[in-house]
Amino acid sequence: MKKIFTVIGARPQFVKAAVVSRRLREMPGYGGQFVELLVHTGQHYDHAMSEVFFEEMEIPRPDFHLNLGGGTHGQMTGLMLERIEKLLMEHKPDVVLVYGDTNSTLAGALAAAKVGIPVAHVEAGLRSHNLAMPEEINRKLTDSLSQYLFCPSQASVDNLSREGIPHVALEHGTPCRVINSGDVMQDAVLHYVKKCSSPKIVSTTKPNILLTLHRQENVDHKEKLSSLQRSAQELSKTFNIIFPIHPRTRKRAEEFGLDFSFCAVTQPVGYIELLSILKCVDLVATDSGGLQKEAFFLQKPCLVLREETEWTELLESGNNILCGTDEEQIKSNASKLISQGFIESPDYYGSGNTGEIICQELIRELQEPHERRK
Ligand code: UD1
Repeated sequence: MKKIFTVIGARPQFVKAAVVSRRLREMPGYGGQFVELLVHTGQHYDHAMSEVFFEEMEIPRPDFHLNLGGGTHGQMTGLMLERIEKLLMEHKPDVVLVYGDTNSTLAGALAAAKVGIPVAHVEAGLRSHNLAMPEEINRKLTDSLSQYLFCPSQASVDNLSREGIPHVALEHGTPCRVINSGDVMQDAVLHYVKKCSSPKIVSTTKPNILLTLHRQENVDHKEKLSSLQRSAQELSKTFNIIFPIHPRTRKRAEEFGLDFSFCAVTQPVGYIELLSILKCVDLVATDSGGLQKEAFFLQKPCLVLREETEWTELLESGNNILCGTDEEQIKSNASKLISQGFIESPDYYGSGNTGEIICQELIRELQEPHERRK
């Protein structure tokens, strides 16, 4: 029996795997000719950061749980590498599937490449061009180790092409394949939005903003987090600010003595609750990559609290604006986006059948393995 080995570990990967793992199990031959084995590295381990996604999104239970959360980047990645390599040598899968740009992504791709198993990378080709971000390091290395590069957008295909990984690589004899598959997160929104309810945390008297912060480059710096806190405080005079707080951010806010109690602060929320809140807000303010697009899929304008973004087409559409952590920028652009509302835009991220495209390609690899990278 052929095996797909999927490595996940952090919150955004659960959302993406929910789509592909479900679709894989519906494909002809599943369970007879091929199976998926799921490895959870344990990078995210709190119930609200992990278990809740498995429960409400009906993600299959992991076959292996490595419990490797916490520690420095090197420690975490190194431990994962060792443990995943061991599993790969024991189970000898035919392809390793990884998602996004976390330490779990890199560990899975590197372990597979070292033992000569093809790697399929979902969300390939994204670039912030900022190597100070751990995610940029992870995604560049993962792309360079992958044989299947599933790009969510034309911009990500173009990024790979500029780095010498062309769209038609396979046809020209080089053993990797770049596929503009669209974005699996769009499939997730379309599927799970049907399960949304009306969240109590949304104000009926004031306009609402959904705020999320977790990027190391924002929240680990006292000045930046302080500036974001002051900006949120200013906006809270007009808006109800819903702030599900990431564990990294909570720890840093406590350490820096920053109070966010003027916001409607909650524990991290599950995916369905996030979509339910998102549907009801007027504006999103975030440093998350995924939420920038989820806002777009649900037609909400978005302040991007970063200096750069991988999702450049959303800036071009006028629905998202880069603000960094500057108080003035945040305030003036919040007013601009609220008065402008959502601008209709092209389908940048495919048509909601990305899970299907990925599964078809993976099955093709299982049936006719292509030449390994030399
Ligand atoms: C990671 C990813 C990032 C992704 C984000 C989604 C990397 C380099 N970064 O960042 O790309 O956008 O996940 O959330 O992989 N912690 C808990 N409980 C948890 C999870 C984490 O307390 O369930 C703590 C950790 O111990 C650590 C901090 O939060 O102190 C950060 O966790 P970590 O997984 O290192 O990175 P994230 O900031 O979550």
